[in-house]
Amino acid sequence: MKHTITLIPGDGIGPEVASTVVRIIEAAGVDVTWETHYAGAQALEKFGTTLPPELLESITRNKVALKSPITTPIGKGFTSVNVGLRKALDLYANVRPIRALPNVPCRYPELNLVIVRENTESLYAGLEHVVVPGVVESLKIITEKASTRIARYAFDYSRREGRKRITCGHKANIMKLSDGLFLDCFRKVAADYPDIEADDKIIDNACMQLVMRPEQFDVMLLENLYGDIVSDLCAGLIGGLGLVPGANIGELGAVFEAVHGSAPDIAGQGIANPTALLLSGILMLRYLDEREAANKIENALFLVFQEGKVRTRDIGGTAKTAEFADAIIQKMK
Ligand code: NAI
Repeated sequence: MKHTITLIPGDGIGPEVASTVVRIIEAAGVDVTWETHYAGAQALEKFGTTLPPELLESITRNKVALKSPITTPIGKGFTSVNVGLRKALDLYANVRPIRALPNVPCRYPELNLVIVRENTESLYAGLEHVVVPGVVESLKIITEKASTRIARYAFDYSRREGRKRITCGHKANIMKLSDGLFLDCFRKVAADYPDIEADDKIIDNACMQLVMRPEQFDVMLLENLYGDIVSDLCAGLIGGLGLVPGANIGELGAVFEAVHGSAPDIAGQGIANPTALLLSGILMLRYLDEREAANKIENALFLVFQEGKVRTRDIGGTAKTAEFADAIIQKMK
């Protein structure tokens, strides 16, 4: 099947890793027309806005985008492009699979869990104002509608992916109304999915358990701010942000992105590790029902890691981005 996908090459190392992932996806035999659009610093320079309307139209039309990291210009008045995209397209579900890769030094080489994060509400929405000088107020809005929608997404996802248990992280013992509502919605939705185990943990305890015995978790459901923090914690358990993919999913479309930033310190040198964006590309292919190509790329990537001969500099090797891509393509043949 032919696909049209919006491609956001991003800034810094973004274009290098994006073109590498495009090359690997095409080598796997997927028929794609890429519609390239700019966002962030480059878009600001060209179009005077970090999030051009043409980009939003393209994603709305194609329903799917692959996004490289973007430099958020420093200074007041620039909202994050990532937050802007999530809001504009109502990408309410953030999915981050945390899976250790072979031969990458890390604390938990067997870890395989998934974080499902509510992407639109809570303190992360950044609704703040100054009440009087010296006093600020930040609003934590939690709604039944958004909490039920994300809980349902987590259960449907778990069923589809063969996951067995969802743990809801919360602080309902203190924030009885807001986190209490999030937890209530989770419990109500859980009743419709008797085949999936549902439990919950207070978020501070969940963090300690994650560091001590992370293998007890399968899928974690978290509101926006907890999800932001805990997903970086989990990336640390398997070797860092450079290895973790992300998907932002809504009814109108989905944006797949690496979790790391634009790494300006190594941009243009051809040494960036494309793994995180490639893993995001694999999630995208599964979303597009290109399961065979997704498995083919994933197997090749795992084989290259297993052999350990071709590694980029960030994980102790000397290979250039292009050499790493060549090794993966070679394994797909
Ligand atoms: P960063 O993730 O870009 O870099 C942190 C460190 O990790 C650097 O030493 C970098 O060289 C290294 N690194 C990151 N990705 C790598 C890769 N694929 N291969 C090899 N090494 C890699 O974080 P930083 O420096 O805090 O942010 C830089 C810029 O990125 C900022 O403008 C920030 O706003 C933006 N950013 C964008 C994100 C996005 O678009 N999703 C997410 C996080 C930051």
